[in-house]
This record gives sequence, structure tokens and C-alpha cells, in this order.
Amino acid sequence: MLITIEGIDGCGKSTLMGGLEAALSDINPLFTREPGATWIGDQVRRGIAEEIDPIAEALLFVADHAAHLAEVIRPALAEHRLVISDRYSDSRYAYQQVTLAPLFPEPLLWLRSVHGNWTVRPDRTYLLTIPIADALDRLDGKDGREHFERAEVLEQVQKNYLALAEEDPQRFVLVDALQEREKICTFIAGDIRNLWQSL
Ligand code: TYD
Repeated sequence: MLITIEGIDGCGKSTLMGGLEAALSDINPLFTREPGATWIGDQVRRGIAEEIDPIAEALLFVADHAAHLAEVIRPALAEHRLVISDRYSDSRYAYQQVTLAPLFPEPLLWLRSVHGNWTVRPDRTYLLTIPIADALDRLDGKDGREHFERAEVLEQVQKNYLALAEEDPQRFVLVDALQEREKICTFIAGDIRNLWQSL
């Protein structure tokens, strides 16, 4: 079963992932992330830092996703593991739709066709939503802002996420990221556990 966690920078995904590791340790999920901890993931982070061409950047994220599927996701699903990924295809659909918008029309269509029929659809996606001002406040303590971490970009990214969720309400669960950390973690861990046990 594949679970993904999505949301804009500063929404608290990293804290949540840590909480889920503790709360779900008895069912031994495989925790993973995009961009990954591989050499391709390193190139993605380098591309982000150097602000390379948005098409090149988008394709690096896609390359990272392909390797992630081949090396981590598909093998784990073949062993019937529970896989929980911090970011996944919806990150491309939400973020790269913004970075590619000045370059050509209909970037979402392009992004979807690049993922084509080889990606794996998550069984459930938790989308953490947060007012942009709160997300930026949380990012203030962080060194070196990525080019995505600007109010106008994050605003549009979150709108894109919400549109994706509206299109696919069966898969998406929206979670208010301003709630207490414990409460968010308990809710999501409980929901994942129910889903896992219902298989
Ligand atoms: P991430 O490592 O989750 O951010 P953090 O540095 O907060 O841990 O992701 C790095 C950045 O890359 C983040 O701003 C979101 C962006 N991103 C995309 O634009 N597209 C993608 O497909 C992915 C996976 C991430």
C-alpha cells in the first residue's frame, strides 16, 4: 500500500514523518522521500540551488521519481510492504505547474503525460494545508531559502494542490497543518492503520 504526504514548504511534513515513524513502528512501514537520498536526488538539490532552467529542473525531479519507483517503491510494494513517501508525483503537479507556467501553456497536461502510465498511483494522499504567512514564518528559521519558498510561489502551489485534491477526493485527505503536531500525527497514523488493516 502506498501512502504519500504532500504540502507546501513549511507545512510540517518533516515533523509529521518523524511522528509517524514512532507511531507506526509496530507495522514496520518503509519511509521514503522525493527528492531521494541517491545521487539523482543530489543532482535535483543541486539543480534547485543553482536555479537551472525550469524544464531541466522538472525533468530531474521526474528522473528522481523514476529511480525511486524502480529502486524503492516497486520492490517494496511487491513485498506487500506499507510505503509512506514524503512528497511524490503531486509535488511535481503542484510545484512544476508554477515554474513551467511562463514557458508553455498547459504545464499540468505536460507533467501528467511525462509521468504517463508508468507511475504508481498512491492509495491515499494526506495534504497538509496552511496559510502562506504561517508557512513562511516557519521557514524563517531555516538557512538559505529555495527559489520555491516565496509567498507568490507557495500561494499558487497550494492552490494547485487543492485543485488536485478536489479532482480526486477519493484519494486525498486534507489536514489542517495549524492543529497541534500531536493531534495531526495521531489522526494520520490512525487513519493509515485503519486502511492497512482493512486490506
Ligand atoms: P523537500 O526536500 O521536501 O524540501 P525540504 O528542503 O523542505 O525538506 O523538497 C525540496 C524542494 O523541492 C521543495 O521546495 C519542494 C520542491 N519539489 C518540487 O518542486 N517538485 C517535486 O517534484 C518535489 C519532489 C519537490
